[in-house]
Amino acid sequence: MSLTEKPSLRGRAIVGDFFHAPTRDRLEVLTDTLIAVDEAGTITAVLGPDAAGRAAAEADLGSNILRLPRGNYGLPGMVDLHVHAPQYPQLGLALDAPLAEWLDTYTFPLEARYADLDFAAPRYRALVEDLLAQGTTTVVYFATQHVDATKLLADLCLELGQRALVGKVAMDDPATCPEDYRDADAVAAVSGTRAVIDYIRAHPDNAEARVLPVVTPRFTPSCTPEALSGLGALAAEHACHIQTHCSESDWAHGHALNRFGKSDAEALDDFGLLTRHTVLAHSNFLSGDDMDRVAGRGAGVAHCALSNIYFANSVFPLRKALERQVRVGLGTDISGGPSASMFEACLTTVRASRLLEDGVDPDLPAERRGRAGSAIDLVTAFHLATAGGADVLDLPVGRLQPGCRFDLVQIDTRARNGGIRLFDITRPEAIFEKIIHGTTRANIAAVWVDGHQVVAPPPDDLGRH
Ligand code: GUN
Ligand code: FE
Repeated sequence: MSLTEKPSLRGRAIVGDFFHAPTRDRLEVLTDTLIAVDEAGTITAVLGPDAAGRAAAEADLGSNILRLPRGNYGLPGMVDLHVHAPQYPQLGLALDAPLAEWLDTYTFPLEARYADLDFAAPRYRALVEDLLAQGTTTVVYFATQHVDATKLLADLCLELGQRALVGKVAMDDPATCPEDYRDADAVAAVSGTRAVIDYIRAHPDNAEARVLPVVTPRFTPSCTPEALSGLGALAAEHACHIQTHCSESDWAHGHALNRFGKSDAEALDDFGLLTRHTVLAHSNFLSGDDMDRVAGRGAGVAHCALSNIYFANSVFPLRKALERQVRVGLGTDISGGPSASMFEACLTTVRASRLLEDGVDPDLPAERRGRAGSAIDLVTAFHLATAGGADVLDLPVGRLQPGCRFDLVQIDTRARNGGIRLFDITRPEAIFEKIIHGTTRANIAAVWVDGHQVVAPPPDDLGRH
C-alpha cells in the first residue's frame, strides 16, 4: 500500500485517550479528547469532553471522525535524534571493541558497501519501515560518505512517509579514514554535501519539506580542518541543520584536546559548527564550560544512553546538562546502541541515570559511590524522546497541541502478541508506565506522520475490538 492509499487523517479528527509531555516532568492525560487535523496535516484543535465547541466539532465532522478502540491510546510520534542508517544490519553485533577499533574493524567496512545501491536499497527500506513500525516518526540520520546512497535514503523516507533529516557523512582525513571509504579531499566532502542538500530541497516529492538535509561531519577525528571549516560555511550559507559526534568517549574527547589544544565543543564552535541547528551526539565529556557554550549557541545534544554503555566509558550527566539549559533529546545510535526502539531509549535513559545517581562500585561507601541529583524519571525521559527532540530540531512535532503536525502512534494495550498486560489497572498514569515499559511492535496498531497513515493495522486485526 503506498502512502496515499492508506487512510489519511487530513481534514478529519480522531477521538480517544492520549498521553503527551509538553514540558519536562509533566505528563498530560487527554481523556476522551478530540484532535482535529487540517488538510495540511496540522493539528487545529484539541478538545476535551467538556471543552467549548466539542459538540459542534463532532456534529460538523460527522463521520469524519476516527474513534480509537477501547484499550488503545495515542502518543506523539517518537523523535530519534541519532541513527546511523547503514549500520542497521549490524544491530546487536560488534559490541566487543572500543570506539576507534569498532569503527576500523566493523563499521567502516560495512558502511563502505553502500557504494553499491543494490546493497543499500533493501537495507535502507527495511530500516525506515522498521522504525516507523516501532513508532519513530522523526529520525535524524547519518547515511554514509556516498552521495548516491544518501539520496536513496532520502527517497525512501519520502516514499514511506517518515519525517527525517538525512546527511551525507563527511570524512576526508587520510590519517583516520580508510583509503576505500573517505572523501577524496575537503573540497569533495563539501561539494558532496552540497549536492545532497540541493537534491533534498529540490525533490519533487518534498514540497512539504518533510525530509531536510543535515550537514554531517562524522566527528572531528575523521575530518581535516579544511573540511570542518568548509562545512561550517556551507551550513551557514544554506541555513541547514548540522550533526556530528562530540566528546563521546575518553579517546574521542582526548583526540580533540591533543589535536586542537581545546575541547571538541570549542573546536566545533570555532569551525562554525555549533549553532542553533546543531545536534551533538553523545557529548558525555562536556565540561561545565562546554555545556554553557553549547547552551549559549542553542545547540542540542542527542543523548544515546544505550550506546554510551558500550562506547562512551561513562554515563552522560543528563540532569546537569538540563539544569545548565542545554537542549536534549534522545537517540538510539543504531548500531552503537543495539536497539532500534525509542521506548527502550526512554527506559535506558532512566536506568543509566539511576546508576549515575547511586554509583556502581559496591566497594565504595554509599556517599562516595554516585553523583547525587542525577536521576531522571520516566516522564522526563518520554518528554525528551518526543517534545525534547522536537525542540532540539525546532520542528513543530512531539506534542499534541494546535499548531503541531499530526504525528501519532496508536498503542493497542490489548494486542494478543504484545508486551502489555493491564489486568485491572485503570489509573492513566499507571497505564502510561505500562505502555512505555511493555510496548513491542505488536502493540503499535497504527502510526501517522503529517496526518498520513504510514503504518496500518494488519488486515486480520481490523474489527477485532
Ligand atoms: N564516532 C564516529 N563515528 C561514530 C559512529 O558511527 N558511531 C558512534 N557511536 N560514534 C562514532
Ligand atoms: Fe553515533
